[in-house]
Amino acid sequence: MKRRDLLKGVAFAGVAGATGLGGFPGIWTGRNAAWAAGSDIPVGVLFSKTGAVAVVESTLHDACMMAIEEINDNGGINGRKIRPFVEDPASDPATFADRANRLVRRDKVVSIFGSYTSSSRQAVLPVVEGQNNLYWYPTLYEGRECSRNVMYGGAVPNQQQQDFVPWLKEKFGGRFYLLGNNYVYPREENNVARKILKGIGGEVVNEEYVPMGHDSFSSIVSKLRRDKPDVIFCTLVGDSDVAFQREYHNAGLDPKTMPVASLTRSEIEVKAIGGEAAAGHFSSAPYFMGYQSAENKKFVEAYLKKYGQDQVTHFVNEAAYSQVYQFKNAVERIGSGELKPSAIRDAAVGQRFMAPQGEIEIADNLHSYLWPKIGQWQADGQAKVLVDSKSRMAPEPYWAYEGQECTAEGLQKS
Ligand code: ACM
Repeated sequence: MKRRDLLKGVAFAGVAGATGLGGFPGIWTGRNAAWAAGSDIPVGVLFSKTGAVAVVESTLHDACMMAIEEINDNGGINGRKIRPFVEDPASDPATFADRANRLVRRDKVVSIFGSYTSSSRQAVLPVVEGQNNLYWYPTLYEGRECSRNVMYGGAVPNQQQQDFVPWLKEKFGGRFYLLGNNYVYPREENNVARKILKGIGGEVVNEEYVPMGHDSFSSIVSKLRRDKPDVIFCTLVGDSDVAFQREYHNAGLDPKTMPVASLTRSEIEVKAIGGEAAAGHFSSAPYFMGYQSAENKKFVEAYLKKYGQDQVTHFVNEAAYSQVYQFKNAVERIGSGELKPSAIRDAAVGQRFMAPQGEIEIADNLHSYLWPKIGQWQADGQAKVLVDSKSRMAPEPYWAYEGQECTAEGLQKS
């Protein structure tokens, strides 16, 4: 379903079918050095280990660091090691901006890998745009952004909602209760969901936002009992998602008649929720841990070996891992040329990488071709994939906004 079709309401076509520098020797001097003029390649690693989204963001840090270590253990890039400068921005957008600034100005990094929430990405945006640096952002997000200084590795709404919303309506009914945290990501995803529902004859019965980190959902559960939606369309993140699902379960609500359909919930949130309480609900994502591929087997085995057999991989740390390899491939392409962030960006475009989810590619608009899937959570904490795309889906960050398009030249309006 193309944007034009969505807006006209064409029916669902379906899916076919610092800090952490120990162990990184080098002569990097930091201050006053030109970009990557030393023997090491300096990058920032900016994921929260504390605060409301640490539950997921700490695992992005882990996957990113694992990829860096793998690459360094295999000789680095063109014989040079990647040197990570690690910061903990504590789930706070202002701290993200401050630490990003420090990484760019003081540590002279040529790229930063970072962020889960859109609020933190937006806080970093003026820093990387102002300094013409490059931010590798692995997270699903709301689209409607078109920076030449961000490599968007996660899904945009067309890659998560285009098939999911019509599928949910067909299976459970079209009365949706939209529930999210109060910031740009949930609000924008819900705008898109609203448009899709309108086009296919569904409706929004309620739209509710709770503060970031909110963890008491008894009044929402009462409203759910009152409104009896067919689907709870959920964009809660981090601790809030965990607390909500536990309360839902404790209240005895039934996924067979009122399922939670999430754009954010992955194996890591399900692990925190507990498999029993999450079982029967749904997520739309380009990757699930149980996906069968040689690349995924290698990724999962390495991750569990490094971080513990009780850990999980998921669609955001898979992207965090893959983005480091995409960076590596871009730097390799540059060869002996100067490692300016803009040169890394240009070398990354069009590049294909065999990721754990399948072959992904960086599009001209710096977003990624991905493999959408719909999964149902099981009591063992893993998802059963019910719908699996047969081809990669192109990223269309302005899909729901007619007359606007993100291209290699930036945002185009017609
Ligand atoms: C998000 O804030 N992009 C999940």
